[in-house]
Amino acid sequence: MILLLHAFPLNSQMYSLLQQELYDAGEEVFAPNFPGFGGQQGTLDSLEGHAQQLLKALPQEGVVGLGLSMGGYVLMRLLALAPERFSAAIFANTRMGQDTQEGRQKRLTMAQKVLEEGTQVALDAMLPGLVGEDAPEDIQDSVKTMILQASPEGVAAAQRAMADRPDSHEALSRLNIPVLVIGGSEDTLIPEEAAREIAEVTGGKYVELKTAHLSNLLDPDGFNAAVLEFLEDVRG
Ligand code: MLT
Repeated sequence: MILLLHAFPLNSQMYSLLQQELYDAGEEVFAPNFPGFGGQQGTLDSLEGHAQQLLKALPQEGVVGLGLSMGGYVLMRLLALAPERFSAAIFANTRMGQDTQEGRQKRLTMAQKVLEEGTQVALDAMLPGLVGEDAPEDIQDSVKTMILQASPEGVAAAQRAMADRPDSHEALSRLNIPVLVIGGSEDTLIPEEAAREIAEVTGGKYVELKTAHLSNLLDPDGFNAAVLEFLEDVRG
């Protein structure tokens, strides 16, 4: 099974093209929405707690996890809790380390503001960083639509959960499965070096795409080809 974990503050629709390609390649796919996103009820109170919930829905072995950005943070928690359930991992535009004090404070400020003023706050603050300055209109529109489907409570809780996430260097350095890491050379939210570091720590393969943060939406051909090629290698 391929587990697709989405970015903040979007939802699993961001993987619709990839999902179709994976189905066509005969793969089983599970692409959940985090609580508070894409119409999903509830709030994500901690990444660890949510990983424990997800484990209840996952097979005992053979899972290939793919997480972009916040999806990657959750995948790291899953791999820390139950590495034996995974046969491979794909990290995109994400990082292992914790936030700086300043980054953490920015999250807590946004959490408060979103609760007072609504999800539009997150859209205004994040859109340029997510897609870059010159993204095609249709991509901007679909990202906006996904963001506005998130509840203010869901966005605020996810920001607090991300602010509290632990460091994942140790969990990843113990991994003994094939790893693919994708970074964006124009990613200003998570610099490419942070993604590349995951490949170094895990002995994984690194693929650079010339994109801003949401690399799978900005270069779907490059992203999906890298994922499918990696899966072919893993499946032998
Ligand atoms: C994401 O794309 O999931 C977020 O930018 C992650 C973050 O805020 O660290």
